Amino acid sequence: MEKFIIRGGAPLCGTVSVSGAKNAALPCLAACLLTDEPVTLCRIPPLSDIFAMCDILSGLGCRISRPFADEFCIDASHLTACAVPYELAGRLRGSFLVLGPLLARHKKVSIAMPGGCAIGARPIDLHLKGFIAMGATVQNTNGCIEASCRQLHGATIYLDFPSVGATENIMSAAVLAQGETIIENAAAEPEIVDLANFLCRMGARITGAGTDTITIRGVERLHGARHTIIPDRIEAGTWLAAAVATGGDVTVTNIIPDYVKPMTAKLSEMNIPLTIGEDFIRTKPVSSFKAVDVKTLPYPGFPTDMQSQLSALLCLSDGISMITETIFENRFMHAGELCRMGASIKIAGRNAVIEGSKSLSGAKVKASDLRAGAALVIAALAAKGDTEISDIYHIDRGYVALDAKLRTLGASIKREPE
Ligand code: UD1
Repeated sequence: MEKFIIRGGAPLCGTVSVSGAKNAALPCLAACLLTDEPVTLCRIPPLSDIFAMCDILSGLGCRISRPFADEFCIDASHLTACAVPYELAGRLRGSFLVLGPLLARHKKVSIAMPGGCAIGARPIDLHLKGFIAMGATVQNTNGCIEASCRQLHGATIYLDFPSVGATENIMSAAVLAQGETIIENAAAEPEIVDLANFLCRMGARITGAGTDTITIRGVERLHGARHTIIPDRIEAGTWLAAAVATGGDVTVTNIIPDYVKPMTAKLSEMNIPLTIGEDFIRTKPVSSFKAVDVKTLPYPGFPTDMQSQLSALLCLSDGISMITETIFENRFMHAGELCRMGASIKIAGRNAVIEGSKSLSGAKVKASDLRAGAALVIAALAAKGDTEISDIYHIDRGYVALDAKLRTLGASIKREPE
């Protein structure tokens, strides 16, 4: 186990390049199971969650090579297993994304219930309802989902909630189903569009990705392809929050600014000046900024994955902010830790009221999940004195070399064994 030791107070300054999106890379890696031809995925972020997914693919018989740090070649020509045990599936939520592709190609799959950040109950009923509508038989036996089918067929599937994972899983299965599948009330996140683009490169026929209705016309087989993963919009937003919190001047590069709009729109509402280019956003030093109310929503609403980081920033605002978390029921774990650092946050159910103050102070805190960990890093960078953040393995699941990138921007951050 490792911890970060951060000495706060230095304004971040310089240019930082954003890595590929973990949440786009995971479903694309899982979708490699759909073809017996080799696939190359570029701009894969080398993160622990990605390596956990690779272990799952290897366990199923895929051969994986890595000519460059962020380029992965996956050969799923000889699948030797159709079961994912608890030891592998429990390592990340994204493990469940292999169910759809395996069911479509192999017709039979057994997978232990997924793990992932402890931010809520995170059921999988919407995924399963989709597979059942497409003709699969699904059973939950001893903590494992066992699904099988003769041949998946097209169906019209209405999702009660626009779940990102369910949309990805069902879309990935439907590409090899017989006939047409329509996903209604589908998630519209950029990661869904990226997956659809990748599947289409492999020969799938998909329209409507990025809207609430996705139509998939099944094909007989998919072929190999090469695809570059989109940049991580949550990493981009995290850098913006960190830059503003420290009064810094940071250019965040290699991004798609449109995908970061829910965050940049909030920053503008907070009177924070930004320069937005074609593939970069630059912050300017500000001495104060306004409090705002924020409600997390499915895309293009404000992302739940940015809520903790924006909350950390709002602890330094002028005024009172109200945060409403509508996606996950347990996503205020950072609040107690931020209060140790001098923040004033009151939680009532799905709402958090943040009273902004001019300063935070260093303290010993613990990262409870990935984005909560990022929020603590932002607070620590802005705080007076030293902050020790433990359990940083959560942060390493979602940010490539966060500490090294921070040092290039002038931050004082050390990684030490706990
Ligand atoms: C993905 C992201 C995660 C992000 C989330 C919402 C990955 C690997 N993770 O998670 O970082 O926070 O989208 O943007 O891409 N739900 C059900 N039944 C289901 C599935 C979901 O009720 O079968 C509920 C969940 O409990 C939650 C809501 O739907 O309340 C959204 O979950 P979902 O969009 O599925 O999130 P994930 O795909 O797990």
